[in-house]
Amino acid sequence: MAGKILVTGGAGYIGSHTTLALLESGYNVIVLDNLCNSSIESLHRIETLCGKTPEFVQGDIRDRIMLDNLFASNHISAVLHFAGLKAVGESVNSPLEYYDNNVTGSITLCQAMARAEVYNLVFSSSATVYGEPTEMPIREDFPTGVPTNPYGRSKLMIEELLQDLAKSESRWSIALLRYFNPVGAHQSGMIGEAPNGHPNNLLPYVSQVAIGGLEQLSVFGANYPTQDGTGIRDYIHVQDLAEGHINALQNIVQRKGVDIWNLGTGTGYSVLEIIRAFEVVSGRKIPYKIVDRRPGDIAECWANPEKAELELNWKAKRGLSEMMSDIWRWQSNNPKGYD
Ligand code: NAD
Ligand code: WQD
Repeated sequence: MAGKILVTGGAGYIGSHTTLALLESGYNVIVLDNLCNSSIESLHRIETLCGKTPEFVQGDIRDRIMLDNLFASNHISAVLHFAGLKAVGESVNSPLEYYDNNVTGSITLCQAMARAEVYNLVFSSSATVYGEPTEMPIREDFPTGVPTNPYGRSKLMIEELLQDLAKSESRWSIALLRYFNPVGAHQSGMIGEAPNGHPNNLLPYVSQVAIGGLEQLSVFGANYPTQDGTGIRDYIHVQDLAEGHINALQNIVQRKGVDIWNLGTGTGYSVLEIIRAFEVVSGRKIPYKIVDRRPGDIAECWANPEKAELELNWKAKRGLSEMMSDIWRWQSNNPKGYD
C-alpha cells in the first residue's frame, strides 16, 4: 500500500500486536496513542522483535488540531482504529468518560479523515453488540441486541454512526470487526496484555493468580445452562486477531461501503475448562471459588467465523493450549507487565 497506516491505540494490547504484524508485513505505521492505558515500552519491544520502529505520536483522538496536522503532514492510506476505553464495570461508573472517549473520539477521528480524504477505516467492535442472542453460533446477520452497559452501547453507537457515514458518502470503505474474547500474547513473551490495577477479564485474572499476585479466582456463577454450569466464551489468540486486521485492510482497499466480520474461532470453552487448560500449561494450581453470577454476563457466546474465512481468507489458527502457554510465558517473564 502506498501510504502509511495510522493505528490509533497502537500501544495497547491488541493494537501493539497488530502494529507488529503490520510492520512485519512491510507496512509503514504511525501509532497514535495517549497512553492512558498502555506503555511506550510496548513499542520499544516491537522494535526489538522486528527491527522496525513505528512512528509514534502521543496524542488524543479527540484532538482535532493534532489530527489535522497529522493527516496533513503524512500520506495516510488507512486507519486501524483501536483507541478507546474498554472496562465494562468502569463504564457503568463513568458513562460520560466512556461516551466521550469512544463515541466523540470516533466522530472526531472520522471528521479529520474526511477532511483529509482518507476513507479506509477498520474499527474494533465487539461481540458485545449482539446482546444476548437466542442461538449459537453467532452470525453477522443476527440482529444487534441491547448491550448491558455504557461500554457496549458505545460500541454499538459507533457501529451505527459508521453505517450512516458510509451511506452518506460512497467513498468510505469501512470494516467493522466484532472480536470475541481476545487472549494470549506474542509467542516471544515480549508483548502481551498488561491491565492497569485489578484485572476484570478472566485470563488476566487467572494468570495473576498463577504467579501469586492474586490469591484466588472467583468463578462468576456455576448454575448457567451449560455443560458444567459456568459461562462459555470464544477465546481467540491475539496474534490471530492481529492477522485478521491485515486481511481486513487488504479487503477494504479493494471495495467500498461497510461490512461486518466476526473474529472468533467458532469454539467455546467454559470457565472451568479454561482453568484446567491453564493449570496444564503452567504446572500451577489455580485456586478458585464459585460465587454469584456477575451482573450483565450471558451464559454463552461463540462465533460463526465462516464469513471472515470466505471473504477475508482468514481463519484463527491457534488453539487453546497455545493461547494458554503464550499467556503464561508473557506473564511469567513480565509479572508486572511493562513496568
Ligand atoms: P487497550 O486499552 O490495551 O488499548 C487501547 C489503547 O487506546 C490504549 O493504548 C489507550 O492508551 C489508547 N487510548 C484510549 N483512549 C484514547 C484516546 N482518546 N486517544 C488516544 N488513545 C487512546 O485495549 P485493547 O484490548 O487493545 O482494545 C483495543 C480495542 O479493541 C478497543 O477499542 C476495545 O474496545 C476493542 N475490543 C477489545 C476487546 C478485549 O477484550 N480486549 C474485545 C472487543 C473489542
Ligand atoms: C469471560 C468469562 C465470566 C472473570 C468482556 C466484555 C466484552 C469484551 C470482552 C470488549 C465469563 C467469567 C471472568 C472472573 C469469571 N470486551 N469470569 N471470573 O465478559 O465475556 O467479555 O471482555 O469488547 O465486551 O464484556 O469476558 O474475560 O470478563 O469473562 O468467572 O474473574 O469468565 O463470567 O463467563 P466477557 P471476561
